[in-house]
Amino acid sequence: MRPAPQPMVTADTASGNSVGSSIVGSICQEILPFSAGFLRPSYFSVDGKAFQLIQSSYPPESSMSVAVTSARLERQKVRIRPTDSAQSNAFSRSVSRVRSWLQRNVIEGIFLRRQVERFFLVFGGHIFFQTLEAASRFDLFTHLKTENGMTRDQICEKLGIQDQPCRIMLLGLVSSGMIKKRGNVYKNTRMANEVLCSDSQTNLLPYIALQRHVMYKGMPKFYESIKEYRNCGLDEFEGDEPTLYQRLAHDPEVEEVFHDSMSALSVQTNKILADFVDFSSVKSLVDIGGGDGTNIITLTSKYSHLRGRVFDLPSVANLAREQLAAHPNAERLGAVNGNCFEDALPTDADCFLLAHFCTIWSPEKNKQLLKKCFDALPSGGRVVIFNMMQDNDETGPLSAAVGSPYFLTIATGEGMLYTWNEYGQWAREAGFADVKQVKLPRDHGAIVAIKS
Ligand SMILES: C[S@@+](CC[C@H](N)C(=O)[O-])C[C@H]1O[C@@H](n2cnc3c(N)ncnc32)[C@H](O)[C@@H]1O
Repeated sequence: MRPAPQPMVTADTASGNSVGSSIVGSICQEILPFSAGFLRPSYFSVDGKAFQLIQSSYPPESSMSVAVTSARLERQKVRIRPTDSAQSNAFSRSVSRVRSWLQRNVIEGIFLRRQVERFFLVFGGHIFFQTLEAASRFDLFTHLKTENGMTRDQICEKLGIQDQPCRIMLLGLVSSGMIKKRGNVYKNTRMANEVLCSDSQTNLLPYIALQRHVMYKGMPKFYESIKEYRNCGLDEFEGDEPTLYQRLAHDPEVEEVFHDSMSALSVQTNKILADFVDFSSVKSLVDIGGGDGTNIITLTSKYSHLRGRVFDLPSVANLAREQLAAHPNAERLGAVNGNCFEDALPTDADCFLLAHFCTIWSPEKNKQLLKKCFDALPSGGRVVIFNMMQDNDETGPLSAAVGSPYFLTIATGEGMLYTWNEYGQWAREAGFADVKQVKLPRDHGAIVAIKS
């Protein structure tokens, strides 16, 4: 039985008096778990007295937005009436238990589970990244792999750290799925074994260093970059040149981090390029924006007749030249200094490779570059565009969504990861008659455009 209605009391929770502030506490605790907004608490207690909630101006929003706007809660007016029936308390408790069970197991456990998880991974993305970065600097993943799992005590001893901070780091890694915990033992996931261990050939640790030294420096200016449509994050880097690539020359340490990460990424992806894209009819390849030469090293190792040159900005081409000179295939490798928009392209090549390069530039510049390649190629020559691709319906994949803001905010202020259709269309507009798509692993793809 519900108690007979009592005179209503209006509590102004902004008033700051002791009852008001207790009410805020009690209501928040009860309302927040009811994230869908359609299950509302009607009974609650304040200082041992029972109250019924008559009206609240809390909007029926998710718990996240209510939690985030808690400052607003302070200003809400909540209408309540006192009730002293023990029955109402018992009734309220059992209703509350059922609601709580439903909320936890059905609404959050089933319907909202994916959304809630995704929200936390995005909302706390910087925290999870810092956790991952810290663990990788301790080389924790390599230790876990070598020892085939470790307890927390063993990890503390190995890393020379205290239990509490270790526990916090491990909680972040386990809850975000970077490692597993079975009983007291922490173990790597398969992915961690592959990409987070320093002894793995496919590790992405240099790419994590890039996130730390480059992305975290410039990306806080994403909002400004969207508003102004320019790479505002570049202001954080020394120099006055318009692109990150040019400014890196002022900071050899970060330039090395950058090229290490590019080459770590290239080592993984150019194997895909070499394995699945056919270069058997190509004699002389120029890798525009070829960085330190990782791509041409892989391709010339697979194709013993192939000659390869990097075409890159002077500071980078010089780095590449040093690295290539020491390679066993050195006589088939080389580097050309140049800016692809300002300088002439070599005219003695039958293939231009644009690997992870078109993403840097605006559609207009890509069209201009493809036309320049077309004009420099002989008949039968080709351009290979190799990149992560965006789906034609512009809904993903995640890799395209993660990669694009960097080009706007830091790199050049104009690029992004484009769709298959865009590349195909630009190649045809440049004059290439035969344009093929090659779908590849790791969200990658190649567009092979042949001049007739
Ligand atoms: C994202 S990295 C790609 C490296 C390599 N192609 C790969 O697949 O890993 C971009 C490269 O383009 C070069 N670059 C930037 N602007 C350039 C320009 N205008 N002309 C030639 N190279 C340029 C940079 O120096 C850098 O090496």
